Amino acid sequence: MYLRLLFLSTLSFYIFSADMLYVTRARISSTAAMGDLGVNLSFQENYVAMSNGLVEITLSNPEGHLTGIQYNGVDNLLEVINDETNRGYWDVVWSPPENTSRTKGTLERLAGTSCEVIVETEDQVELSFSRTWNSSLEGKLVPLKIDKRYILLRGSSGFYTYAIYEHLEEWPSFNLDNTRVAFKLRKDKFHYMANSDDRRRDMPLPDDRLSGRGEQLAYPEAVLLVDPIESHFKGEVDDKYQYATELKDLRVHGWICMDPPVGFWQITPSNEFRVGGPIKSELNSHVGPTTLAVFASTHYGGSDLIIKFGESESWKKVFGPIFIYLNNVTDEEDPHTLWEDAKNQMSVEVEGWPYDFVTSDDFQSKHQRGSVSGRLLVQDRFINSKGCISASGAYVGLAPPGDIGSWQRECKKYQFWTKADEEGYFSIPNILTDEYNLYAWVPGFIGDYINSTIINITSGVNIDLGDLVYELPRDGPTLWEIGYPDRLAAEFYIPDPDPRYANSFLLSDPNRFRQYGLWDRYSELYPDNDLVYTVGESDYTKDFFYAHVLRKTNNDTYEQATWTIKFSLYNINENETYTLRIALASAHQSDLQVRVNDLNEVPLFSTGKIGGDNAIARHGIHGIYWLFNIEIPGNILYSHEENSIYLTQVNNESRFQGVMYDYIRLEVPQTKTMNINS
Ligand SMILES: *[C@@H]1O[C@H](CO)[C@@H](O)[C@H](O)[C@H]1NC(C)=O
Ligand SMILES: *[C@@H]1O[C@H](CO)[C@@H](O)[C@H](O)[C@H]1NC(C)=O
Ligand SMILES: *[C@@H]1O[C@H](CO)[C@@H](O)[C@H](O)[C@H]1NC(C)=O
Ligand SMILES: *[C@@H]1O[C@H](CO)[C@@H](O)[C@H](O)[C@H]1NC(C)=O
Ligand SMILES: *[C@@H]1O[C@H](CO)[C@@H](O)[C@H](O)[C@H]1NC(C)=O
Ligand SMILES: *[C@@H]1O[C@H](CO)[C@@H](O)[C@H](O)[C@H]1NC(C)=O
Ligand SMILES: *[C@@H]1O[C@H](CO)[C@@H](O)[C@H](O)[C@H]1NC(C)=O
Ligand SMILES: *[C@@H]1O[C@H](CO)[C@@H](O)[C@H](O)[C@H]1NC(C)=O
Ligand SMILES: *[C@@H]1O[C@H](CO)[C@@H](O)[C@H](O)[C@H]1NC(C)=O
Repeated sequence: MYLRLLFLSTLSFYIFSADMLYVTRARISSTAAMGDLGVNLSFQENYVAMSNGLVEITLSNPEGHLTGIQYNGVDNLLEVINDETNRGYWDVVWSPPENTSRTKGTLERLAGTSCEVIVETEDQVELSFSRTWNSSLEGKLVPLKIDKRYILLRGSSGFYTYAIYEHLEEWPSFNLDNTRVAFKLRKDKFHYMANSDDRRRDMPLPDDRLSGRGEQLAYPEAVLLVDPIESHFKGEVDDKYQYATELKDLRVHGWICMDPPVGFWQITPSNEFRVGGPIKSELNSHVGPTTLAVFASTHYGGSDLIIKFGESESWKKVFGPIFIYLNNVTDEEDPHTLWEDAKNQMSVEVEGWPYDFVTSDDFQSKHQRGSVSGRLLVQDRFINSKGCISASGAYVGLAPPGDIGSWQRECKKYQFWTKADEEGYFSIPNILTDEYNLYAWVPGFIGDYINSTIINITSGVNIDLGDLVYELPRDGPTLWEIGYPDRLAAEFYIPDPDPRYANSFLLSDPNRFRQYGLWDRYSELYPDNDLVYTVGESDYTKDFFYAHVLRKTNNDTYEQATWTIKFSLYNINENETYTLRIALASAHQSDLQVRVNDLNEVPLFSTGKIGGDNAIARHGIHGIYWLFNIEIPGNILYSHEENSIYLTQVNNESRFQGVMYDYIRLEVPQTKTMNINS
């Protein structure tokens, strides 16, 4: 263990109590020049502290848990009534490989056994808290070498943390269910939370969730506040999943303390180390007050996103750095402006990526990385017969080589995504050296693009891929379509919540789908018969429920629901094949069966048991995307008579099973001329 003792800073002194580090600091009279001071490092028995005159952070030594964050006259922004291991920490959930299908394993707070000063200059201090693994720890600690780093820069109003995880070939196989950094802030200070422009507000207190004040609803995370300390929260549901955000929008979030006015923000400047692609949703900040930086999890993805290590598998990954940003205003200013300032700081951090002050060789610097650019076009003969359309606003990304859409489930390596401009031009900078495939999808168009040519990123390369053409799945012109292909169910009918569970701040668009309990609204809206959608008459924004859930019966069982799509056809060629394309925005342990014109026949198509994204229970509007292309022989369709497509989700072991549709389309055979309205 690295041990050092420095003289205490002349400006501060510390008092250590036995069970709790409580740092008191002499008030500094001249604050003007504080940002210009160098960074100081001081070791105490069992602790190490670093300060730059603006921020002082204290870590347990050698574990490397954050025990104190001192800022703007507040001794500790972290929850001082919590145990020191439960204030600011890195953790994992892991399990032995036999538990592959399970998403719950052992929760382990990653504790170092050795502390090392990596950098100590006036401009920067970087500390490492590490531990390794050997077979004597089998079954006790996750079989990973862990190196947690903390960086404090001169003049910086916050600090950085990152970690390097490594699994050696000779170590046992295991599953890593999730990993994150968690911050527990003081509940007496932080009451206002901001996760995005439309999800920020005063929050209930953690005590409101306790029995007596709160009543658990369908699962432990969802609690009805029946007797909250602040009575205006009465009747609200508190559930951290109501705040979940897509990774592409999850760059800054946190809390504001009003007195003194202080903001605590978690800024994630790059998504390269997160898993599952840019629209995977993740938790962020929630009642606690808690702020999380989740790097990998099964949320909104399911067990496919468990990171599984097989026999003889070596792996190394850098998570972060992320930035913890602290800001303040004078007592006269509005503390809510701290959120605007935090967003500005987020832009500064994004601009600064990849950070040049990170010392680990495992973190590639800007000049070691490469870049890719090009233009994506879409070809859909039935929209534009002459040629290609610009893939305006396409999501384009580099991810490890795989199959179509494999990036959704990819969780071991790094991904690099961008959004193409209006003309489909894209450019992806700062890509780590490795081999990749290029993937894309285009809002407004069905399916997924993959270019299976290996793209080899080497240091300094700038690869121009030129024009790439995404040929859409298409067998013939559209007879009818339901929805808008964008991987979301948001355009469909989202019901008002049960008034018993309505949270007023979620009543307005675009957050309506986040309300608790919408799954049970289906059987209230369709008490006698299941949903019937008639092409040409129905309006999917009103007549197509956003989720194909189970029907709740009077005796609290949940039963299959069969939805019907009715449409007419003329001039059918019995020898030709029609194509039904069903794009799902989510599936949870579902088996979707498709029948045509005869509900008693064996299904024409069945998805088999698919999905585990749990988006219905977690108030999501999508999970993982699925596309099914189903052939319908012309000889089972009726000419000049109404046809029915029956969609049945058959699995009903739990109430949250079901699918969300993204988009459904019927194509007539290519050889036929358009016969939509004939
Ligand atoms: C660091 O320590 C030096 C020497 O004790 C002191 O002059 C300086 O003000 C300290 N800086 C900070 C940021 O505490
Ligand atoms: C904000 O906090 C810093 C660090 O404690 C302090 O130097 C500065 O005076 C504070 N600014 C305001 C406006 O309170
Ligand atoms: C793995 O699963 C078994 C059986 O379900 C259970 O007894 C065990 O506790 C699990 N282990 C972990 C680490 O989750
Ligand atoms: C294995 O790890 C344990 C716990 O860190 C340590 O006490 C022991 O010395 C290590 N054994 C070997 C052979 O390195
Ligand atoms: C990618 O580049 C590396 C380094 O130049 C090389 O070792 C590797 O063989 C290349 N891979 C392919 C598929 O060309
Ligand atoms: C894949 O990319 C290469 C350039 O790397 C290009 O030549 C090829 O046409 C692309 N393939 C498709 C299917 O777009
Ligand atoms: C539950 O009620 C439904 C009608 O609401 C009925 O069809 C079904 O048989 C009942 N199931 C049980 C187990 O009683
Ligand atoms: C599933 O549906 C069947 C009838 O369709 C019913 O008997 C059973 O109780 C349902 N299961 C659950 C868990 O509600
Ligand atoms: C379908 O195929 C059969 C057998 O080849 C043929 O007799 C019939 O005319 C065909 N129907 C149409 C509409 O082309």
